[in-house]
Amino acid sequence: MKTIIEPFRIKSVEPVRMTTREDREALISQAHYNLFSLRSDDVLIDLLTDSGTSAMSTRQWAAMMHGDESYAGSPSFFRFEAAVQDLMPFQHIIPTHQGRAAEKILFTIIGGEGRIVPNNTHFDTTRANVEATGARALDLLREEAKNPALEAPFKGDIDLEQLESLLATDGDRVPLVMLTVTNNSGGGQPVSMANIRATKALCARYGKPLFLDACRFAENAYFIKLREPGYENQSVKNIVREMFSHADGMTMSAKKDAFANIGGWLAMNDDEMAQRARNILILTEGFPTYGGLAGRDLEAIAVGLEEIVDEDYLEYRIRSTAYLGQALIDMGVPIVRPVGGHAIYVDARAMLPHIPALAYPGQSLAVELYRVGGIRACEIGTVMFGRQPDGSEQPAVMDLVRLAIPRRVYTQSHIDYVIECFAELNAAKDRLTGLSIAWEPSALRHFTARFKPL
Ligand code: F0G
Repeated sequence: MKTIIEPFRIKSVEPVRMTTREDREALISQAHYNLFSLRSDDVLIDLLTDSGTSAMSTRQWAAMMHGDESYAGSPSFFRFEAAVQDLMPFQHIIPTHQGRAAEKILFTIIGGEGRIVPNNTHFDTTRANVEATGARALDLLREEAKNPALEAPFKGDIDLEQLESLLATDGDRVPLVMLTVTNNSGGGQPVSMANIRATKALCARYGKPLFLDACRFAENAYFIKLREPGYENQSVKNIVREMFSHADGMTMSAKKDAFANIGGWLAMNDDEMAQRARNILILTEGFPTYGGLAGRDLEAIAVGLEEIVDEDYLEYRIRSTAYLGQALIDMGVPIVRPVGGHAIYVDARAMLPHIPALAYPGQSLAVELYRVGGIRACEIGTVMFGRQPDGSEQPAVMDLVRLAIPRRVYTQSHIDYVIECFAELNAAKDRLTGLSIAWEPSALRHFTARFKPL
């Protein structure tokens, strides 16, 4: 069959609120043209993030009733630990309230002035947590990954030559090497098993641990199955296990590929590092058998990890993201290619060449998407990255708009609606104008800045 159906049926529904174009004109103006300032019940299709927005299954909700809220030694923790170790066989599994809490603990231990942490591309909280310790976060993406239109199977791969030269010249400053699977900031692109293996071999040669930032590990494993010779007949579960067998530890946001609305963990094999991590955990998150979570959250994650490696789900997930991407390509909307796992990244700079980067084409596109159809997306471009430490302003490398797809939430007709809105917008794109910033805070301006249409 050509039609990939949602491999679930709907037992509980959450109404979405319809608005008119006039309503939305008023709402976005009251929000000072910042999509983060909208109330989410004024949004019809929310593609702001795939993080924490998954629909949980009946099994997950049922498991939550088994949540044991004991302070120490809860059976919910042991179920969570066993589910993680079934896929990621690390010695120490340390639960945190979300991914960035795991990052904070890890980099408090291994970061510091003068250190350098290489990664394919740091996610923004990862970068911020590295930099908060005084260390440097270095992105080592290969050249081909910097061309949004180029089709290549594994644009998330780290550049091994640059990594090797860093380890050879400055190795004593590198406490560990990270790989983000899939590479969110680079367009949701996967990392190949060959690249993970070769990175591990380099790390072993230089005596460095390899950690995976594993938020979207199952989507990455499914791309390996689809695209990497030798893996076509392997189960996703085995591919996941192999990915983690090459690593010495991981950080995780359970808000992505664990189908949970909150949660995360830090895992590793090194006993001494784990001891230090648990000491910090007790100060900032909680006792080691619950970390930053309730027993019921640990239960939801344990079941979510069983469900995420289901190949019918993953086929639907990857194919339905590609369905939106292909429709946009067919109507001539430039997007980052090939389509990644969790999101479509529209190249707003290429789509709106008449709007200069410093008039924020990505923001203009995101605002218009809301006006046209009540769709909320996220600018990843000059608004997010353009402000320099000295207060000046420079175009970001790219001006993208991310349409992130929440897991198991929207049906194909919701996506068809998004496609229809894009067609309307695309036909009138030459009339879009840029924006200026009327007010901005001193850091992380994209969350709260106020804009004015030009
Ligand atoms: N690493 C990656 C690759 C991520 O995408 C995220 C979150 C984190 C770490 C941090 O995890 O949110 O649980 O603290 N990404 C979300 C997003 C916010 O919208 O892409 P967290």
